[in-house]
Amino acid sequence: MSEAAPSSSIEARALTLALGGTPVLDGLDLRVAEGEFVALVGPSGCGKSTLLSVLAGLAEPDAGDVLIDGRAAPGRLGHLTLMPQSDALMPWRTVLGNVRVGPLLGGASEEDATAAARRTLARFGLGGFEDHYPHALSGGMRQRAALARTMLGGTRMWLLDEPFGALDALTRADLRGVLAETWMRDRPTTLLVTHDLDEAVLLADRVLVCGPRPARVVGEVAIGLPRPRTLDDLVDPAFSVPRAEILSILRSTGALA
Ligand SMILES: Nc1ncnc2c1ncn2[C@@H]1O[C@H](COP(=O)(O)OP(=O)(O)OP(=O)(O)O)[C@@H](O)[C@H]1O
Ligand SMILES: [Mg+2]
Repeated sequence: MSEAAPSSSIEARALTLALGGTPVLDGLDLRVAEGEFVALVGPSGCGKSTLLSVLAGLAEPDAGDVLIDGRAAPGRLGHLTLMPQSDALMPWRTVLGNVRVGPLLGGASEEDATAAARRTLARFGLGGFEDHYPHALSGGMRQRAALARTMLGGTRMWLLDEPFGALDALTRADLRGVLAETWMRDRPTTLLVTHDLDEAVLLADRVLVCGPRPARVVGEVAIGLPRPRTLDDLVDPAFSVPRAEILSILRSTGALA
């Protein structure tokens, strides 16, 4: 990751979008402040991934605006790093080749890009797999490679769509720690979509809750807990209280029985 890249605020104003005649986003507003870590939770199919595509500049809304640092940003594609829900690794490139892309696009030399990619892969437990192609990795390993690529994406605006979704519980806890550490060091503006409420509370400054489709933010919970936060903290009432608040908002939307 290039620490010289700007970390800016990201804002959605009244985003509205229908797909195939189905309203998916409905006047959705949200703001992630510069260097803030926001988690977004909501029922399956409510429109979270669609929202990230619009924020990243991959899809156009029918109405509403995306603002970066308070300004309309029609040319934002490539200025935010999106880690899609599917790992989206390039199958024709090795793991190293996939992870080197960010630094190379950012102007790093071949040597520096390779060194940065190797270091990051080692941190993600993929040392020794640099020359493997994605098809020869397990689902969890592909997810780790995709996360490594995101972190070297050269921007400090991250949109992460369930980055730990395909991982077993142990790897998930481990990589969450790596993400928290990297975020604390570099303070990228981060929007994380997750279904895991513990994960949201462990990682985020604020948790936004979406109701059922079409997506709108129906509530938010601030997580004012000190960092670093660990799995052991989850039993602390200071963690269970915001978690219960998120659950209660989800329940009030009818998303939970
Ligand atoms: N290309 C498309 N054409 C038509 N409908 C689509 C398209 N992409 C998504 N949808 C619909 O938009 C809705 C929202 O999908 P989206 O992937 O954004 O949900 P999500 O909140 O990310 O769900 P999940 O938590 O399961 O990942 C769904 O009803 C889906 O069927
Ligand atoms: Mg999704």
